[in-house]
Amino acid sequence: MKNAIGEFPEGFLWGAATAAYQIEGAVTEGGRGKNIWDTFTHTPGAIKNGENGDIACDHYHRWREDIALMQQLNLDAYRFSIAWSRILPQGRGTVNQAGLDFYSRLIDGLLEAGIQPFVTLYHWDLPQALQDEGKGWLRRGIVEDFVQYTDVVTRAFGDRVKHWTTFNEPGVFTWGGYVLGEDAPGWRMQPGAALTALHHVFLAHGASAQVIRENVPQSQVGIVLDINVAEPASEAPEDVAAALRFDGMQNRWFLDALLRGEYPADMVALFGEQMPRIETGDMQRMAVPLDYLGINIYRRSVIAHGDELVPVNYCRVLPPGEHTLMGWEVYPKCIYDILKYVNERYGPPKIYITENGIALPDEVSPDGHVHDERRIAYLRDHLTYLQRAIAEGVPVRGYFVWTLMDNFEWALGFEPRFGLIYVDHQTQQRIMKDSGYFYADIAKKETAVK
Ligand code: NOJ
Repeated sequence: MKNAIGEFPEGFLWGAATAAYQIEGAVTEGGRGKNIWDTFTHTPGAIKNGENGDIACDHYHRWREDIALMQQLNLDAYRFSIAWSRILPQGRGTVNQAGLDFYSRLIDGLLEAGIQPFVTLYHWDLPQALQDEGKGWLRRGIVEDFVQYTDVVTRAFGDRVKHWTTFNEPGVFTWGGYVLGEDAPGWRMQPGAALTALHHVFLAHGASAQVIRENVPQSQVGIVLDINVAEPASEAPEDVAAALRFDGMQNRWFLDALLRGEYPADMVALFGEQMPRIETGDMQRMAVPLDYLGINIYRRSVIAHGDELVPVNYCRVLPPGEHTLMGWEVYPKCIYDILKYVNERYGPPKIYITENGIALPDEVSPDGHVHDERRIAYLRDHLTYLQRAIAEGVPVRGYFVWTLMDNFEWALGFEPRFGLIYVDHQTQQRIMKDSGYFYADIAKKETAVK
């Protein structure tokens, strides 16, 4: 398959990704229960400009229009998440049929449009009732609740959805939610809280994967991680050591646990008494075989010794050059470096790039278009490095842009625009950006020459 970037393997999937809380809105409609992001966004001071996802992109009502836009983008696949509290408003127990119906219609609409659904079960929006009970992911019994949720949705959609992701970026919602206070529920506890939450997330992942395999014929099961290759800021031994600790926290903690069934020994020693309680059989339970690994790729991490996050003790160094609205360095080679790192050390059977994209302060020009040349350059440069990794044998089967349309960027509100489609959040008008036209061309199927 050849496009403006070059040659990609036959069957390579071109997609875009979203997440429920970031786009759906309609937070009190269709029997949906409250979740931790509803609570967090309504906590004064938690979110930039006091914004929230109550309406977001109003996708709950505009999903047909959004599928039509996906068709214009020539998408092969669409990655989205299910809001647990639409399905089980109290987290467990009574199933909300209206919630199932919403996703069922969406899935049918995608399939009719020739777009494969990639479903994420958990993209950070825990039902509030489960947060209130035992502090959410800190309660080991939450594993059974996640299993019930998985069972309900895979029975409902397993005939039509084959690609399932258990969790999106488990590191972000545990460290961010329980230790750094930046994500829901917004707590600032000791590092041990994130490690305990993660231990339960990993167990929930393992148990959920088994349920998916039982309920879904020909299922493809994976998890999505945000891997960042860590580069020491200098050759000084303390920076080199800090980069290794950062790599342990950011990458190896997840990859070693999920693909090898062990926590990295250097980090276990570093965390010491903060380590979670590990019961017999836990490590085998979490390391179920994966059909694919999803990787979200945005940047590299240049790391020096510092005082962030004791005992990891690091600080990020921002190299000069181009930076995004998130303050992240634009470094296209990161996609190649991350893919090589994961492939050489862990060799997952298949990889999907489940997110990659750039936040910019896009505006509508007087001509009514959005001329986002920097996003086009970002995509072109990253895809060029992706192609190089594939040519060198890394088994990448698809690529999803983050994101389909400008949406609610968590604690940063609506300001960072990541979309291929511009959204006016006052009127809900959607405008295809220049990058959308560019991407549609990349994703276009070759028409047979007669
Ligand atoms: C990763 C997360 O999965 C997504 O929800 C977020 O919007 C993007 N990164 C951009 O920060």
